[in-house]
Amino acid sequence: MLNGAARVFLAYLVARCRYMDDVLQAHLEGGLKQLVILGAGYDSRAYRMQRLQNRVQVFEVDHPATQRMKIKKLERILGKIPPHVTFVPIDFTLDSLAKLFEAGYNAEQKTLFIWEGVTQYLNQDAVDSTLAFVAHNAAPGSVIVFDYMYTSLLDGSTPRGEVKNVQMYSRISGERFRFGIERGSAEEYLRARGYEQIRDVGQPELLRMYFHGPNAGRTVADGYGIVSGVVKAPA
Ligand SMILES: C[S@@+](CC[C@H](N)C(=O)[O-])C[C@H]1O[C@@H](n2cnc3c(N)ncnc32)[C@H](O)[C@@H]1O
Repeated sequence: MLNGAARVFLAYLVARCRYMDDVLQAHLEGGLKQLVILGAGYDSRAYRMQRLQNRVQVFEVDHPATQRMKIKKLERILGKIPPHVTFVPIDFTLDSLAKLFEAGYNAEQKTLFIWEGVTQYLNQDAVDSTLAFVAHNAAPGSVIVFDYMYTSLLDGSTPRGEVKNVQMYSRISGERFRFGIERGSAEEYLRARGYEQIRDVGQPELLRMYFHGPNAGRTVADGYGIVSGVVKAPA
């Protein structure tokens, strides 16, 4: 049985996935041809969304260790990797996303970049270099959408159980939360890094969008944001 804090955090993870699915669906309506999933982990969009198959080239970028495990599992489940998916092993803290070019990424094609559940594990330099790569190597009009935690969760001024647990067990798990953006400043953060038409959603917007009808009695964790920005044309 989940306690209250775990339940609202789980609700946030579900809402985050739904929000990013909705962003992707909107881009598919707009004729999306290229999708880059950064830190893909076990993201299953390329396999569960029929509309991606045969129409959209999907690049799954991830840490080599995680990606190796995923490929093994996919081969076991699906028999073979579908042709619309290309794997690009990258450690964001060590490697350049330029590896995408070797994998066939087309910088002329408007692209959606989904970066879900990853920034919090990275350092500031890795986040900034990823945002810079996209701003400089994606066609104008391309979009990046990613989630982040508020810095108040990282510095403990807003205590949350799931954050405390990750930090407490970091020596065993090797995972630690490192990166956050101050509540209310994601727009300024992305604007300074070459993006426009920025949309930043947090708990109030997620509640308005998804927590009604049969979900009206539920709530979602506060402390996390999901932001998207459009790559500007060069001045
Ligand atoms: C919490 S999982 C999220 C996975 C997936 N995006 C999702 O939402 O289910 C974090 C992902 O970030 C990746 N990751 C963490 N640090 C990384 C790094 N330095 N370089 C590349 N990937 C990294 C992990 O391999 C893992 O796939």
